[in-house]
Amino acid sequence: MAIDYKTRIPNNVDLDGNRRLQRALESWQPHYIDWWRQMGPDRFLENDVYLRTATSVDAKGWATYGAVKMPDYRWGIFLADAVPDRRIGFGDHKGEPAWQEVPGEYRSILRRLIVTQGDTEPASVEQQRMLGHICPSLYDLRNLFQVNVEEGRHLWAMVYLLHAHFGRDGREEAEELLQRHSGDADKPRILATFNEPIDDWLSFFMFCYFTDRDGKFQLKCLAESGFDPLARTCRFMLTEEAHHMFVGDTGIQRVTKRALEVMNELGTDDPAAIREQGAIDLPTIQKYINFWFSSAVDLFGADISSNAASYFADGLKGRPDEGRYEDHDCREAFFTVEGFDAAKGKIVTEDVPMRKAMNAVVRNAYIADCAIGVKRWNRLITKAGQDFELRLPSPRFRRDVGVWADFQFDPDGNPLSAEEWAQRKDEWIPSPDDRAFIKSLMQPVNKPGKMAGWIAPPDRGINNQPVDYEYVRL
Ligand SMILES: [Fe+2]
Ligand SMILES: [Fe+2]
Repeated sequence: MAIDYKTRIPNNVDLDGNRRLQRALESWQPHYIDWWRQMGPDRFLENDVYLRTATSVDAKGWATYGAVKMPDYRWGIFLADAVPDRRIGFGDHKGEPAWQEVPGEYRSILRRLIVTQGDTEPASVEQQRMLGHICPSLYDLRNLFQVNVEEGRHLWAMVYLLHAHFGRDGREEAEELLQRHSGDADKPRILATFNEPIDDWLSFFMFCYFTDRDGKFQLKCLAESGFDPLARTCRFMLTEEAHHMFVGDTGIQRVTKRALEVMNELGTDDPAAIREQGAIDLPTIQKYINFWFSSAVDLFGADISSNAASYFADGLKGRPDEGRYEDHDCREAFFTVEGFDAAKGKIVTEDVPMRKAMNAVVRNAYIADCAIGVKRWNRLITKAGQDFELRLPSPRFRRDVGVWADFQFDPDGNPLSAEEWAQRKDEWIPSPDDRAFIKSLMQPVNKPGKMAGWIAPPDRGINNQPVDYEYVRL
């Protein structure tokens, strides 16, 4: 059965049965396509890309592979299947039936949560729009575009909620999601990190591993929401998100692997010698980890937050995998947060009501998740017989948000004076020279199966295709 996907919106939300909503979305759709053409991947719009498309939410339909030109991608609207008689799982409304409509008293908070999440999706596509020109392989180029089209679909997912549940304000917000742009001086994206361009592939892999993982954790929290359409939307988005984490994880792993190969060929760990061979030395990889991890942990917000407390109390935003906790009320519970006594120059602790510490709780879960990949990369290093350990810096390091923001710390979490920081920061985060070196490596490689010299080939291709498959037809 041929479906004209350019005019019809694939969905499992019975759009046909809701003409008003269908018309609203169909009038937003051309604006979206214009946005994609102007702000999405630069060029490559007419090339066939081997992409995964969700055509339904079941095991067979959610990952259909085939060659697609990106502007023809079938961005659809999919909610995970409803859980029969779903109840709110935490906070003051625990045990009440989940809401199918927006409760009046939470309307503006819910709208803000959805808009903030929605804004990051197109923002990341904009940040990455020039990367296609300097891809290390066709395999990687395809992965970039896969991530981009899925972030586009995540925007659709949020716009659906705005159109379906927030009336006129929702429609206005949906338009504005296409009008703000990453890095725009007048109308920037909402969150600061999403206004920085990503102009090299090491940064792209770091973004997918660290920043996008923040997205995963936000989605996990919203997947617990008492507002059922939001919960179901986010649950389905998480299935796609796994691939984005994979791109980051395996990207960093392959860069590390290449460094190790060169180290062993040359019989040295001298960074200059590794660079001479066109590979990225491990200390430089560590600096990029320090940079991207520290900017991602800021995204979880202040450690002590009354907003976070009310999101939880009101049943709007839970903890990731809420079901794994025993106490879903948390009114009586406390959580120990660290702080810094600048006068005494030492770390202090404070017990705060658990609900107010939800950002810190979620951030800790995120950090534990980040550590899993690092362990894997280190196994590779040990196996190669090299003595080096990649690590996550202390959460105090280079923070702009929360209790650490006004002070400086080294990657081990030791306090530093502002002068010490200024003097030593190039030891810990990419210096202008490091960035120039990484940039110098970014030469496009676009013959099937060929890889740039700074990255090892992947272990396997996409969807059982060989690594040298023509993933993008140029
Ligand atoms: Fe996303
Ligand atoms: Fe993502």
